Amino acid sequence: MKNISKAAIVTGASRGIGREIALRLASDGFAVAIGYASNQVQADAVVAEIIAKGGTAIAIKGNVADVDDVSKLFSSVQDAFGRLDAVVSNAGIMSLVPIKVDNAEKLDQMLRTNVRGTFLVLAKAAEVLGDGGRIVALSTSVIAKATPGYGPYIASKSAVESLVHVLANELRGRNITVNAVAPGPVATELFFNGKTEEQIMMLAKMPPMERLGQPLDIANAVSFLVGKDGGWVNSQVVRVNGGFA
Ligand SMILES: NC(=O)c1ccc[n+]([C@@H]2O[C@H](COP(=O)([O-])OP(=O)(O)OC[C@H]3O[C@@H](n4cnc5c(N)ncnc54)[C@H](OP(=O)(O)O)[C@@H]3O)[C@@H](O)[C@H]2O)c1
Repeated sequence: MKNISKAAIVTGASRGIGREIALRLASDGFAVAIGYASNQVQADAVVAEIIAKGGTAIAIKGNVADVDDVSKLFSSVQDAFGRLDAVVSNAGIMSLVPIKVDNAEKLDQMLRTNVRGTFLVLAKAAEVLGDGGRIVALSTSVIAKATPGYGPYIASKSAVESLVHVLANELRGRNITVNAVAPGPVATELFFNGKTEEQIMMLAKMPPMERLGQPLDIANAVSFLVGKDGGWVNSQVVRVNGGFA
C-alpha cells in the first residue's frame, strides 16, 4: 500500500461541491474517502479521476442519517488508509417549500439528512480524530436572507452551525478545529433544481461579483481550513459567497 501521510472523508462527494472538495483535498495530498448515497457511477468516476492524477481514493456508499452506515464509513477509512486527519460533512439536501402544515414531511426529510446526518458525522469525527484533526460542515449563506420558501432548509442549516460551535467547545484541549463553510448560490444540481432561468439570473447577479459560485470556490476555502495555514481558525462560520450578504 502507498504511504499515506494524511487522509480525509468528504460526505456527499459524488457530485457538486463535495466532488470538488474531494478533488481539491486529493491534490493537497490527502487520501480521500468519497461518501455518497446512491450515485455509484459518479462516485467511482471521482475516485478514478483522483487515481489518474496519482492520488489515493475510495468510494463508500451510505446514508449519513444512518448510524450503522456512518460507522461503516469511518471503519472503512481506517481499514483502507490506517489514519484520519480531516472530515468534511458536506452531504445535504434542499427542497424549497413554504411554512405550511402540508410541508411537514419535507421538513422531516431535510432535518433527517442535514441535521441528523451532520450530527452523526461530526460525532464520529470527534470520536476518531486525533491531535491536529480538522472538521468542516457545510452550512449556507441564505440563513441571513430569511428568504420565503427556505424555512425548513434554513432551519436545518442553522442547526448545523449550532452543532459546529458546540462541538468546538466539546473538543476543548484536543487541538481539533471545527468550522462551518456557508456558501452563497453555487452552480450545482441542488441549486438549479426547480428554479426558472430568471430566478437563476437574479440570484447570480446578487453578489457584487455578479456570478454564481463554482464548486471550486467553496473547495478552496475548505482546503484552507483543513490545511496547514488554517489551524487557528476555530468555531467559525466562513461565508464563501462573493459578497452575497
Ligand atoms: N449549491 C448551492 O448553492 C449550495 C449553497 C449553500 C450550501 N450548499 C450546501 O453544500 C452541500 C453540497 O451541496 P451541492 O450543491 O453540492 O449538492 P448536490 O449537488 O445535490 O450533491 C449532494 C451530495 O450529497 C449526497 N447525499 C445526499 N443525501 C445524502 C445522504 N442522506 N447520505 C449521504 N449522502 C447524501 C449526494 O449523493 P448521491 O449523488 O449519491 O445522491 C451528493 O453527493 C450541501 O450541504 C448543501 O446544502 C449548497
